[in-house]
Amino acid sequence: MRRADVIIVGSGIAALQIAVHLPRHLHVIVLTKSQTKKSNSSLAQGGIAAAIGDWDQPSVHYKDTMEAGRNVNNQMAVHRLTEEGPAIIRELVNVQCQFDRDENGNLQLGKEGAHSHSRIIHGGGDQTGRRIVDCLVGKLGPNVDIYENECVYELHIEDDGRCYGIKSKTSNGASHSLLAPYVILSTGGCGQLYSFTSNAEEVTGDGIALAYWAGARVRDMEFVQFHPTLLFCNGEGKGLVSEAVRGEGARLVDDAGNYLMDGVHPMGDLAPRHIVAQAIFSSIQNGRSVYLDIASISDFEKRFPTAAKLCQRNGVSGSIPVAPGCHFLMGGIEVDDRGRTNVPGLYAVGEAACTGVHGANRLASNSLLEGLVYGKRLAKHITEQAPAPFIDEPPNCHYYEDLSGLNLPTIEEIQCNMMDRAGIVREEKSLLAQLKWIESFELEKWVRTDFSQLTKQQWSILAMLQTSWLIINAALKRTESRGGHFRSDFPYESDEWQRKHTTEIRYSEKR
Ligand code: SIN
Repeated sequence: MRRADVIIVGSGIAALQIAVHLPRHLHVIVLTKSQTKKSNSSLAQGGIAAAIGDWDQPSVHYKDTMEAGRNVNNQMAVHRLTEEGPAIIRELVNVQCQFDRDENGNLQLGKEGAHSHSRIIHGGGDQTGRRIVDCLVGKLGPNVDIYENECVYELHIEDDGRCYGIKSKTSNGASHSLLAPYVILSTGGCGQLYSFTSNAEEVTGDGIALAYWAGARVRDMEFVQFHPTLLFCNGEGKGLVSEAVRGEGARLVDDAGNYLMDGVHPMGDLAPRHIVAQAIFSSIQNGRSVYLDIASISDFEKRFPTAAKLCQRNGVSGSIPVAPGCHFLMGGIEVDDRGRTNVPGLYAVGEAACTGVHGANRLASNSLLEGLVYGKRLAKHITEQAPAPFIDEPPNCHYYEDLSGLNLPTIEEIQCNMMDRAGIVREEKSLLAQLKWIESFELEKWVRTDFSQLTKQQWSILAMLQTSWLIINAALKRTESRGGHFRSDFPYESDEWQRKHTTEIRYSEKR
């Protein structure tokens, strides 16, 4: 029987930050379903926000974060994030993480949407995520083992309701159990539920589905952020073009030469993401094409090498055709300020978790910061605990549905239907149609089958269906529009919803 002190599922920045900050006497196993450096964190371009500029203050960063989140954020969580931000940056600089500097050797600070100050620290131009991932991987101690290509498909939940470990499948299809008193889900969000996405192909909502099936509370799932600018070629989203490009002066323009954001919002091209994404979406719906005019950025290839290469690969030169795509989930597995879920022994961090820090819409470049701040806090919490209970043998499982007669949709069907019916603009009719479609696959029966009998692909589709179902339910409940949740049948914010959150809990049937 394999065992460890701490199991971390996922290998993005939050996962690596925890592994780096746990003491060396704890044996830590990181399980990742593909390769360690294949994650949304590695793809993150714009940078990491922190109030380190001369004229900046954490209190101003706090205000910007609350405003972007449309004031349904957890205020304490935002306070911690913005207050601890500058120290987190200093810590990275001290361990030689290479960020871009100006001619005087000071950290260069970029600007992104809805920030009132330039406070985006970046590395390698637009390769910030990769720089931080490389740095953290280099700091891992000998107490950390990483198992790649291992897909976690089940949590071990005992009769006492506590989580004691996981079950996973390796690439040869063999199932394994792994026991530990601390199980941390750091699996990212669910960007791959949508046909237009900036997310890595691994990001299919696995951790959220696992937690929900284990009886964890899941919250705010209706708040899905669409990034305004994916490169848009041949009717497909081809990858992210950072918001920092607009921060350096690029303008959104349509094929008739109109500046898209003029008169839409006082912050113009740097308005909050949901406003810009909705403006581009409605322009495209009206038959226009939208471009990023980058003529004013003289050193585009040097400042944005990732975006420049992406354009080159797709035969784009000059103005960049763009469309919005799914980027970030503000909701997720409900956790407290130390990453604890309502299931003892089960923790969540990063995009998979919902601390409430992002409210209805995440402020640009707050996600890497969240992973680092809350990853470190969770490592500290575990370090300070007395030895946690553990078990010697995995609990028995009870399945009572067999697989015969059950069928599943394809990944592409899920993505297209989610984009059409639960995307940038939703309404009751489209959401109900999507709910009916999802429920036609008898999710409840699938959840009572023996997951070890499923292929990785089947399991992944099941997790995608479950996570989609959670989004749809929350989107139906929230009868208003706020941040990343826009309902054409309830187009305004309502005071009543200002104080309410949507939550869903599945009281675990023992598996
Ligand atoms: C971007 O570079 O535009 C993305 C940064 C973020 O999502 O915070």
